[in-house]
Amino acid sequence: MEEFIVTVDGPAGSGKSTIAKIVAAKYGLTYLDTGAMYRMIALYALENGVNLEDEKSVEAMLENTKLDIVGNKFFLNGKDVSEEIRTPEVSGIVSPVAAIKAVRVKLVELQREISKGKKTILDGRDIGTVVFPNAQVKIFLVASPEERARRRLNEYKEKGIEADFESVITSIKERDRIDSTRKESPLMKADDAVEIDSSVMTIDEVVQAISECIDKKVN
Ligand code: DC
Repeated sequence: MEEFIVTVDGPAGSGKSTIAKIVAAKYGLTYLDTGAMYRMIALYALENGVNLEDEKSVEAMLENTKLDIVGNKFFLNGKDVSEEIRTPEVSGIVSPVAAIKAVRVKLVELQREISKGKKTILDGRDIGTVVFPNAQVKIFLVASPEERARRRLNEYKEKGIEADFESVITSIKERDRIDSTRKESPLMKADDAVEIDSSVMTIDEVVQAISECIDKKVN
């Protein structure tokens, strides 16, 4: 099977994973949530009190973390952490973890390995710019911070996690700032990516817009 890569990059809460899952099902693509991989490393750092300023501690952490993805389940050293990686505590520490070069080197390699020779849709921040600069289809999905905060708050509510609008929007803006200004692979639209603003569109409309981009490449 020939490799076919669709990348969906954009800020936290722009709807990347919701949309990527639907598009994956529609076209029979494997879906890879790369943010979840950074979240697994962040969870390990949180649980083990890893000093992120210390290079040796970071190296040891990367040697001691085995990540496995089976369907939509995420395993950290054999333990299913699919729920734990979505908590506000992990969201609060994941951006600084994702800014560390050694962390990115390990995860980018893993992302390329998982997608090798497959038809895959990946969502993240640097997929179209760094991980797969030659991807067939590149999407940059954006939405206003207010809309993104509302969506995150709803997700937390559904899971019974307590949170308020102000703290969620503050955390989203802070993550945007760190993700966009970091030295290593900042959040950035690839020159050849198609930008879609999901604040003013329904899920179906976004899926339709991405489908048109895919159909152009396939047909
Ligand atoms: O998409 P998310 O909120 O689950 O991402 C969690 C964090 O990981 C976010 O702060 C940005 C970072 N990330 C990244 O730097 N590169 C990626 N390819 C995916 C996520």
